[in-house]
Amino acid sequence: MQVTVFSCRDFDEKELFLEYGKGLGLDLVLCREAPSLENADLVKGSQCVDILTTKIDRNLAKAFRENGAEYLITRTIGYDHIDVKACREYGITVGNAPYGPNGVADYTVMLILMSIRKAKRIIERTNIQDYTLAGNLGRELKDLTVGIIGTGRIGRTVIQNLSGFGCRLLAYDLYPSDSVKGKAEYVPLEEIWKEADVISLHTPLTESSFHMINQETIMKMKPGVVLINTARGALIESEALIRAIEEKRVGAAGLDVVEDEFGLYYYDRKSDVLTNRELSLLRSFPNVTVTHHMAFYTDNCVRTVVEDSLKSCKCFMEGKENPWEITS
Ligand code: NAI
Repeated sequence: MQVTVFSCRDFDEKELFLEYGKGLGLDLVLCREAPSLENADLVKGSQCVDILTTKIDRNLAKAFRENGAEYLITRTIGYDHIDVKACREYGITVGNAPYGPNGVADYTVMLILMSIRKAKRIIERTNIQDYTLAGNLGRELKDLTVGIIGTGRIGRTVIQNLSGFGCRLLAYDLYPSDSVKGKAEYVPLEEIWKEADVISLHTPLTESSFHMINQETIMKMKPGVVLINTARGALIESEALIRAIEEKRVGAAGLDVVEDEFGLYYYDRKSDVLTNRELSLLRSFPNVTVTHHMAFYTDNCVRTVVEDSLKSCKCFMEGKENPWEITS
């Protein structure tokens, strides 16, 4: 039973793959590179392919299938990088290995606190020995209304985390969850735009959520609103956000994800001239904290995804019920 693992990181994943692969009785082809048409033949002999966030388009799906793959598992929660329809057309089943929500939920609270306490500016100033106060005045969470959009596993955990801070919590989801009741109040999206001082996004990227934060929705928000995105970059239209920050409509933002981050994040690009102008602008603002898709990155999350991705491959190969298979 063989699995080809792409984008396997030497510094934190490799040992775990060897440990769990051995425990589950799987032969592993561990490959540092991301999958591409050039290296798709590494899949030969493997029924299953284990990937990270590389775009899997129709051509790559076809190449995987031609090399014998029947199952594709991504070691991520989001799977918008995979053309699931094309995979299915070629006879490849797709799965994802979600880890616990706490890593991302903790990080979200950190970005909220950093944004309302102006941490980026304060740290930058401290580093250049500018110990003045002016411009550093923060706000307290207990005085604010926080709107959580998307109350799945992560959004619900953010609500749980925030419930200790004494802020008013509003929530919106296409499918409200009973477990949120009592901690946050479900309201229509329009009310979140109108009432929230801080808005945090926790929905997957779909046709309906693409650019849900745009010029029109920003105009409906409170002046000085703080926007937090630890979900997917394209939930926010970058151009509209930049304009709103320049016009001071948006007071601060905490962005762990940005549009068009593929090919940038997780690579060392410090000597390169980059073409993502929006990212450069966003990074340059003193009131925008940008991190490079780090929210998931905890010891717990890495261990869980490695283990679950392999368990999922084993379930598939043994024809057992596979809780990680994407069925929708
Ligand atoms: P989940 O599937 O448990 O919850 C998503 C929720 O969003 C569901 O309740 C769903 O009904 C709701 N939803 C879907 N479309 C919506 C819409 N248009 N409007 C309102 N609600 C909508 O997913 P989970 O685990 O909570 O993850 C949320 C997102 O966080 C993931 O899809 C992924 O994109 C992102 N993520 C980011 C990470 C990072 O490192 N920054 C790591 C892990 C996930």
